[in-house]
Amino acid sequence: MKPSPDTCASEFAHAMQEALTRRPHRISPKWFYDTEGSRLFDAICELPEYYPTRTELGLLDRHADDIARRIGPGAEVVEFGAGSLRKVRLLLDALERPAGLLPIDISAEHLHASAAQLQRDRPGLFVRPVALDFTQDFVLPAARGPRVGFFPGSSIGNFEPDEAGPLLARMARWLDGGLLIGVDLVKEPDLLHAAYNDAQGVTARFNRNLLARANAELGADFNLARWAHSAFFHPPLQRIEMHLVSRCDQVVHLCGHALPVQEGESIHTENSYKYTVAGFQRLAESAGFRPEAVWVDSRRWFSIHWLRPAV
Ligand code: AVI
Repeated sequence: MKPSPDTCASEFAHAMQEALTRRPHRISPKWFYDTEGSRLFDAICELPEYYPTRTELGLLDRHADDIARRIGPGAEVVEFGAGSLRKVRLLLDALERPAGLLPIDISAEHLHASAAQLQRDRPGLFVRPVALDFTQDFVLPAARGPRVGFFPGSSIGNFEPDEAGPLLARMARWLDGGLLIGVDLVKEPDLLHAAYNDAQGVTARFNRNLLARANAELGADFNLARWAHSAFFHPPLQRIEMHLVSRCDQVVHLCGHALPVQEGESIHTENSYKYTVAGFQRLAESAGFRPEAVWVDSRRWFSIHWLRPAV
């Protein structure tokens, strides 16, 4: 397929071209989330090895009343990176008279489908999905109650520490009610390794879907079989790194460019930082939040923090 000039001027096209031109090759994980990427991520959340979703759901379920009491009545919930809206249902069920839900996600089709389903299930709830990239500047509609952020899944871990601080600082300014945020914890490297190298290969498909997306949207000619999924824990930086490693010398064609890649070179597609409770609280404090409560499971695998804006 020959891509149109418009397609090649898109932000995604620029990101892919830059990723393959600069060395080391690197791209933001936000480009994983087209409709198929969002579907694959939902499948990851069901995997036996991927403990974060189950552990966080267990914490939300167990502590829903305490969480709701701290949030208080009449809150408007803004969910960042909303995805399938599964977790926020537990929160909404516990909250007293929630004023509404603004789910924000970069994956528009997936977001609108999940929001429509939630609206069918809860006809009395005000639901206004907002399809945008919340890492960019944006203006939210007027608030209908104290604005409370919900940022589950440890998506904060996909930001570099020097990006996570400013993002949290912006949230502290938007959210007069507070922020409820899920944060994955540092743990046994074998457990982390298994979570990102599942036996069914779903994480590998999720990783390679970036290339399939470039083929479909940008007319690129990535041969997916020539790229190996690689995910490993990097202890000094306390992060999982995900890469796509070239299995051979090859040339990728993308928007009129012929981009050579050598055998063994990789495209670094994602970091997933793991925190200690105290380390995350320090980050939140430096971003203008006051940590007020934290819930941790008995194995200390995952944490949910309740933060109030400090001013
Ligand atoms: C969305 N995010 C928190 C996931 C994570 O664990 O970093 C994305 C993911 N990547 C591979 N598996 C899941």
